[in-house]
Amino acid sequence: MDLSIFPRRRYYQGPTPIEKLERLSRIWDGPNIFMKRDDTLGAAFGGNKTRKLEFLVAEAIQQGCDTLITCGAVQSNHCRLTLATAVKEGMKCRLVLEERVPGSYHPQSSGNNFLFHLLGVETVTVVPGGTNLMEVMEKEAVKVADLGRKAYIIPTGGSNEVGDLGYMVCAQEMIRQSFDMGITFHKIVVTSGSGGTHSGLLLGLRAYHYDVPVIGISINRKSESEKDLLQGIINKTIAKLDLDITIPREDILVFDEYVGEGYSRPTQAMVDAVDLVAKTEGILLDPVYTGKCMSGLIDLIKKGYFKKGENVLFLHTGGAPSLYAYLPIFYEKFAQNQ
Ligand SMILES: Cc1ncc(COP(=O)(O)O)c(C=O)c1O
Repeated sequence: MDLSIFPRRRYYQGPTPIEKLERLSRIWDGPNIFMKRDDTLGAAFGGNKTRKLEFLVAEAIQQGCDTLITCGAVQSNHCRLTLATAVKEGMKCRLVLEERVPGSYHPQSSGNNFLFHLLGVETVTVVPGGTNLMEVMEKEAVKVADLGRKAYIIPTGGSNEVGDLGYMVCAQEMIRQSFDMGITFHKIVVTSGSGGTHSGLLLGLRAYHYDVPVIGISINRKSESEKDLLQGIINKTIAKLDLDITIPREDILVFDEYVGEGYSRPTQAMVDAVDLVAKTEGILLDPVYTGKCMSGLIDLIKKGYFKKGENVLFLHTGGAPSLYAYLPIFYEKFAQNQ
């Protein structure tokens, strides 16, 4: 499988590091926890979308587009990174923000919302939760065309058969790093949202005959519906690459117990996980994705899901800028600790 046949821009240097989290691992006398630091990827504050955008933006440029349009939640990391790559390429960027939690959009709020403006977003369109985002983005594309320009629409989270290539590259990196470090990873734990990270990684690993289980922690959907989503992206990517491979349903692993009351709504376990990793490893997770994913990893360790001494690789997909939009819940935790 040769991914170099696809157009790609480069927004990071070399493989992201894999670190052993010694102090965190010691707490439970269970598995050895390793972390792949995709939070250190390039573009503004990094994170998983940078890998997908290398292929998506390259396709946009190849098609002669000068404007990127994408969508996300009001504190979307994907929107921040799409905008940052647009700036780097001298393109414009329009954002459609879905107010998934009613009343959660504040035009002058902190976190990623602030960065949208600092990075020079062209327009922000806020729509209520449940809106057909593709329709709204298509309308934006017409407005861009009326200005004599050409837009490229990137779907939610950059999760499609083009964005998936970014996480197939990550799979290649992990396999190489495992070999170079002389460490076998027995399980990989990843956040499963719009699905491109989990699906690309799983497909990439299987395409290289690497059979490690990839455990997705859902931050939004019930497991069966997340699996449907992942299967759909995987099938399209297989078709794009003309791969002679199938990913059976039972190979798609998703836990949905850590979502709490819904997407982006904090859980106590998330706050505890973010706090613990900050205080034991000096690493910043985020409240919406990696914090809930880590709360899942911790719970699964406590339940004995992983064998003692197994090597578990947690993929840190970034997102820390949105911590600043969640200050009260963390200050509550700090007050309890005093
Ligand atoms: C920090 C972070 N981690 C994980 C995810 C989930 O990745 P995916 O949408 O590819 O499932 C996102 C999605 O926006 C994210 O911003």
